[in-house]
Amino acid sequence: MKVRNIGIIMNGVTGRMGTNQHLIRSIKAIRDQGGVRCGDVVLMPEPVLTGRNADKLQALAERTGVSRYTTDVDAALAEPANEIFFDASGTLQRAGFIEKAVAAKKAIYCEKPTAVETEEALRLARLCEDAGLKNGVVQDKLWLTGIRKFRTLRDQGFLGRILSVRGEFGYWVFTGEDPDQPAQRPSWNYRKEDGGGIIVDMLCHWRYVIDNLFGNVKAVSCIGATHLPKRIDETGREYPCTSDDACYATFECDNGVICQFNSSWTVRVRRDDLLTMQVDGTHGSAIVGLRKCWVQSLGTTPRPTWNPDIEQPINFFAGWQEVPDCTTYDNAFKVQWEEFLKHVALDTPFPWTLREGAKGVQLAELGLKSWEQRQWLSVEELPQ
Ligand SMILES: NC(=O)c1ccc[n+]([C@@H]2O[C@H](COP(=O)([O-])OP(=O)(O)OC[C@H]3O[C@@H](n4cnc5c(N)ncnc54)[C@H](O)[C@@H]3O)[C@@H](O)[C@H]2O)c1
Repeated sequence: MKVRNIGIIMNGVTGRMGTNQHLIRSIKAIRDQGGVRCGDVVLMPEPVLTGRNADKLQALAERTGVSRYTTDVDAALAEPANEIFFDASGTLQRAGFIEKAVAAKKAIYCEKPTAVETEEALRLARLCEDAGLKNGVVQDKLWLTGIRKFRTLRDQGFLGRILSVRGEFGYWVFTGEDPDQPAQRPSWNYRKEDGGGIIVDMLCHWRYVIDNLFGNVKAVSCIGATHLPKRIDETGREYPCTSDDACYATFECDNGVICQFNSSWTVRVRRDDLLTMQVDGTHGSAIVGLRKCWVQSLGTTPRPTWNPDIEQPINFFAGWQEVPDCTTYDNAFKVQWEEFLKHVALDTPFPWTLREGAKGVQLAELGLKSWEQRQWLSVEELPQ
C-alpha cells in the first residue's frame, strides 16, 4: 500500500460546521479509519487548522489529535504540501480567503453559500476555473441516508412519474430571551449585514437537492418573513434581527414537477424529522427524512372519503412502510470529503463545483428578489 499524504488547510475550523462536520466527523474520522483506500493507494488527509484565535485552535487541535495549527493562513498557504484549502469561515469572509488560496494554486473546497450574490459566486468559480484549479462546494444533503434511500427507490421506478414535492425544514431556534433556553444557532444567522438569513442559507441547498433529485429548477416564487424582530447574541446582548427567519417558496421544474419548501427557524416540530420531503408520484409516494424514508405504493394507498361528521376511520400513518437500511451510511459530509480527496489525488470526477454552488446562490438571490417584487421569477442558465 502506498500512502499519499494530502495537506489540507482547514480555515474557520473552530466554528460550528468546521469543528463538528468537517474536522471531527469527516477528516478526523477518515484519519481514524486509516485514510481513503483506492486500489493500492491510501489517501491520508493531513490537516492544518487555521483561524484567528490561537487558544481556540490549540484546544481544538489537542481535542482532535491534530498536530498542526496556526493563525498565519499565509504561511500555511506557502507550504507546498498543503494541496487543499478548505473554508468554513463566515460566508462574507469566504471570497477573500478563496482569492488568496487561488493565488497560492491550491485546490479549493468550501462551505456553502460561496457568496450572497450570484455575480460574486460566479466570479469565485471563474477564478478557480481560469487558474485550472480543482474546486468544490459542500452539497451535503445529497448524501443524507434518507435521500440515498429515496434515490434508490426513484431509480428503481417506485414512484412512477414524480408529480410534486413538499419539503418542510426547520425547528424552533430559541431567541435566548428566556431563562435556560439559550439560542442554538450563531447570531450572525439573523443579521443580513453578516451574511445571515434563511433564504440565503436554505435556497442554496434546495437548488442542488431539486436539480439532482426532481428536475431542473426553472422558476421560483418566494415570500420571506422576519417573524421574530429581536434576539440575544453570544455576549448576552439584545440585537435587532435584520434578515428573514422563515421563507415559503415554490419552485417549478422544467419537467413539470412542482416543489414547495417551507424553511423556518420559528416553527415547532410535529413531523418525522427536522427536514422531511413528501414526494408524490403516479405509482407511489415517499416521505424522506434525514435518515429514514417511508413509502406507500399505489396498490397500498387507502381510499379516503371526506366526512368530518365521523371519527377518521383510517390510520393514515399505518399505511406507510419504512425503507430498511441496506448498507452502511456514512456521514454525508465525510462521503463528499472522500470524493473530493479522490478528485484531487486521482483525478476522479467531482461535479459539485463552485459553479454548481453558484447556482444555489442564484436561486437564493432570485428568492429574495421574488419576495421583494412579489412575483414569479425565471431561473436562467448562468453565463460562462
Ligand atoms: N452545509 C450546511 O448544511 C451548513 C450548515 C450551517 C452553516 N453552513 C455554512 O458554514 C459556514 C460557517 O457557518 P457556522 O454555522 O459554522 O458559523 P460559525 O459562526 O459557528 O463559524 C464561523 C467560523 O468562522 C470564523 N471566522 C469568521 N471570520 C473569520 C476570519 N476572518 N478568519 C478566520 N475565521 C473566521 C469564526 O470565528 C467561526 O469560528 C457559513 O458559510 C454557513 O453558511 C453550512
